[in-house]
Amino acid sequence: MSAPETGTRAGAAEPDAPDSAALRERALTSLVTARDRTTLLTTCVEDPDLTAQHSPLMSPLVWDLAHIGNQEELWLLRAVGGREAMRPEIDGLYDAFEHPRAARPSLPLLPPAEARHYAAEVRGRVLDLLEGADFHGSRLTEAGFAFGMIAQHEQQHDETMLITHQLRKGPRALTAPDPDPAPPFTGPAEALVPGGPFTMGTSTEPWALDNERPAHVREVAPFWIDTTPVTNAAYQAFIEDGGYDTERWWTPEGWAHIRRHAITAPLFWHREGGQWLRRRFGVTEPVPPDEPVLHVCWYEADAYARWAGRRLPTEPEWEKAARHDPATGRSRRYPWGDADPAPEHANLGQRHLGPAPAGSYPAGESPLGVRQLIGDVWEWTASDLQPYPGFRAFPYKEYSEVFFGPEYKVLRGGSFAVDPVACRGTFRNWDYPIRRQIFSGFRTARSEAV
Ligand code: AVJ
Ligand code: FE
Repeated sequence: MSAPETGTRAGAAEPDAPDSAALRERALTSLVTARDRTTLLTTCVEDPDLTAQHSPLMSPLVWDLAHIGNQEELWLLRAVGGREAMRPEIDGLYDAFEHPRAARPSLPLLPPAEARHYAAEVRGRVLDLLEGADFHGSRLTEAGFAFGMIAQHEQQHDETMLITHQLRKGPRALTAPDPDPAPPFTGPAEALVPGGPFTMGTSTEPWALDNERPAHVREVAPFWIDTTPVTNAAYQAFIEDGGYDTERWWTPEGWAHIRRHAITAPLFWHREGGQWLRRRFGVTEPVPPDEPVLHVCWYEADAYARWAGRRLPTEPEWEKAARHDPATGRSRRYPWGDADPAPEHANLGQRHLGPAPAGSYPAGESPLGVRQLIGDVWEWTASDLQPYPGFRAFPYKEYSEVFFGPEYKVLRGGSFAVDPVACRGTFRNWDYPIRRQIFSGFRTARSEAV
């Protein structure tokens, strides 16, 4: 739907900007898809499971639900539509910066039925607004940006809520078909990404968020990158080689962290009778060797890479591997090209409740032969979350600007749990290096010997 990025055309006017009817349709579909998922995630358990705190790392599900409605009211009904606040007294409860997650269960939150009613009421008014919306004239509404931002926001919380479901004790509440079994991947284990400039970030993707902007040229030295994410089998070899007992593989902070918390394997793994088992969405089963490793923190990814004689890719390296087309020098929207994600490209959107085997999705391969960059597992990069040159916060500093700095590491590529609307070749996620309840894995890289 938008022009791919090039060094020269970046920022140029769109010759083929989609018309208002197409934008309205895309906004509507994105909002409806998000709400269908939210509804499933908040109706597949009984009310006590919506108000309970399943982990101090997470909000009660009923907080996410009303927060989704409240953000939609703030940005679409009030900022775009110029409407009055529907319930000004609840704004503070659902402001993520006023109350840390651990404190949210003790707030006077809207009970489940009221939260549902509020979110539905907001949505009804938004759909009326969308019918007559003008997609030109202000930066907030240009190309339907605010609608896209709110659909992405809801999908981001749908991933957050899926993490809460994973942390919840008790029997399975969600089901989905397994990914198709993939023929064993027989391609090379790593791909050489040529050195030289490439265009990172975007100035043309209409629904890209502020931290993905603007497009700018980066110089990247030649490097090798894994063609698939690191698998459970490979990670198990690190464990069995004493990886968690060998200080030299770890940064000082990482070593201190795993010792203090007695971390000896990925989250949700345990050993029974000489076999590694893992619990996922209420089901315990043997760790499948071919799946990308999941629920590791940045420190674990970094230590594994050092043990393997490698390192994590930097964020520019990751994006160059994902977007650079050596035939044209252009940066693509996605590894496979400029087409929006389809099911054959990537494991996205909670179609499955876990990653597909390493080497799946040949149709989603990059021109350099790198697979599963999009979907399956978020990939830790070596980089701290920093603004791109020329960054400007839009429409609010609390989306990303307040997080810039050395405390957060960047993750790229999206997981099985993120919807295509909230996942692009330029999309940037971030978290603390100790976090592993997120759907995080990684791949490794090494510099080209010169
Ligand atoms: C971009 C995933 C780090 O969940 O903290 C949701 C997304 N921002 N509501 C988060 C977000 C505001 C954000 N991440
Ligand atoms: Fe939010």
